[in-house]
Amino acid sequence: MKRIIVAVTGASGSIYATRLVDRLCAMEDIQIHLVISPWASQVMESESAKTSTEWVTSLPSEKVIMHKHEDLAASISSGSFRTHAMVIVPCSMGTLGAIASGLASNLIERAASVCLKERNQLILVARESPLSAIHLENMVKLSHAGAVILPPMPAFYTQPKTIEDLVDTTIDRIIDSMNLDDGKAKRWRDT
Ligand SMILES: Cc1cc2nc3c(=O)[nH]c(=O)nc-3n(C[C@H](O)[C@H](O)[C@H](O)COP(=O)(O)O)c2cc1C
Repeated sequence: MKRIIVAVTGASGSIYATRLVDRLCAMEDIQIHLVISPWASQVMESESAKTSTEWVTSLPSEKVIMHKHEDLAASISSGSFRTHAMVIVPCSMGTLGAIASGLASNLIERAASVCLKERNQLILVARESPLSAIHLENMVKLSHAGAVILPPMPAFYTQPKTIEDLVDTTIDRIIDSMNLDDGKAKRWRDT
């Protein structure tokens, strides 16, 4: 069984989080540890018809373990609790900057810091536009520390027809980055 931490922060693009969690829930032998920041909840409400509470309630409880954003005593706060990978999706520049600075003042920052020190895969779906030199420098710093910077930049070679198709071009790459395969990823010249 592989444990995957999914952290949702207050950048635009909560649909990336919901579609990723749906894909992971459909996979066998995956346990999801979900953390949602207070600003992620606000943004989700602005972007969709659902509140974060309604979303979480709809998820299968046997697959998804919820953690509180402020709970620094949660299992995923410790390196002794073994996890396969962590994805912050979408990742705000605030959270990205905090992790780059070594802060661990909430569970998302702490779990990310643990991933880096344990050399576990940390994937940051960083969303902001345009990017300042501070954002870019933080990304370079995190990339040197082992994180994967995976901005939600859609690809068009799969000829997406809907917003969901477009979003899934990023979800496919996140799943690839975790070295997982559910057989659903669309690939260039994959015949
Ligand atoms: C509707 C909305 C959209 C936002 N979009 C972004 C964004 O795309 N990128 C970003 O870095 N911050 C964005 N923010 C600002 C963050 O929510 C804010 O910096 C917050 O402090 C992030 O906190 P968190 O990382 O703990 O979730 C947005 C805020 C709102 C209300």
